[in-house]
Amino acid sequence: MRTVSKVLLVSVVVAYLAVRWTVPRFDAESLRGARVLVTGASTGIGEQMAYHYARFGAQIVITARREKVLQQVAEKCLSLGAQKAFYISADMANESDPDKVVDFALEKFGGLDYLILNHIGPSPFSMWQGDVEHTRWLMKVNFFSYVQMAWRALNALEQSKGSLVVVSSLLGKMATPFVAPYASTKFALNGFFGVLKHELSMKKSNVSISICTLGLIDTDSAMEKVRGIVDAPAYPATDAALNIIITGATRQPELFYPWFTYIVNLTKDWFPSITNYAIQNSFKYNP
Ligand SMILES: *[C@@H]1O[C@H](CO)[C@@H](O)[C@H](O)[C@H]1NC(C)=O
Ligand SMILES: *[C@@H]1O[C@H](CO)[C@@H](O)[C@H](O)[C@H]1NC(C)=O
Ligand SMILES: *[C@@H]1O[C@H](CO)[C@@H](O)[C@H](O)[C@H]1NC(C)=O
Repeated sequence: MRTVSKVLLVSVVVAYLAVRWTVPRFDAESLRGARVLVTGASTGIGEQMAYHYARFGAQIVITARREKVLQQVAEKCLSLGAQKAFYISADMANESDPDKVVDFALEKFGGLDYLILNHIGPSPFSMWQGDVEHTRWLMKVNFFSYVQMAWRALNALEQSKGSLVVVSSLLGKMATPFVAPYASTKFALNGFFGVLKHELSMKKSNVSISICTLGLIDTDSAMEKVRGIVDAPAYPATDAALNIIITGATRQPELFYPWFTYIVNLTKDWFPSITNYAIQNSFKYNP
């Protein structure tokens, strides 16, 4: 048994390295002047993506709810080297705001090279207590607005041979406690954009889709939620942001960050009862 698991582990690692080595090289110059729209850019990973794109000399539109914060992020983008930086505040639960944001970017740039869908609404980290309305709202923010923005931008991305990047989560591939509404929205994203990826490829579309599977990232909002309940290592938002940008620029279909999320996704179904035991015991919970 031990030998079998060792062989399995080694083959997984070899498979992973083989995948990594075939990734095309990232050319930072390719982002100079690129027209980029980043959502959820007032804080966390989205904010860090805006700064990386700025350092690469891109033209950026950022969006989130808080206008004052967006203004500060946009100013910092300009000081870091962004060719242009615009901001527009929007509520992604509103039925017309997602279209409004894409139209704003198209109007400012006359086209679009990267659509980076990253925003999420706040959601409690606790046992499901029947709040159906919250789940419905979160579906609008975390899922329906992504679908709407992707569709609105698709023609422009076809014209520019552009890229659509969807920031998802390991919780969109496996179920863990305390995140029922959040995990539902991420599973929905993986389903929808997984299908769209097939269809664009069958249509020989110019647009690449990248789905990013992230583990625990050290953003303020995530850290605040899991403190005292989960004892897992958190990975730096700025590094996650850079990896997402490289994944989009090299038109990779998937990113797993940190790297072991790939292994977790692959092995989670091999020994379900052990996996479930480990998951449930990694949370501090006393009924
Ligand atoms: C969405 O936004 C528009 C314009 O900003 C506003 O007129 C409309 O009432 C909003 N809808 C909801 C449901 O808040
Ligand atoms: C891909 O882009 C080219 C122009 O670069 C365009 O002629 C072609 O129609 C595009 N393909 C699709 C499916 O839109
Ligand atoms: C993630 O896991 C699922 C289910 O085990 C599998 O179908 C999928 O291929 C995995 N993804 C990758 C990129 O290995």
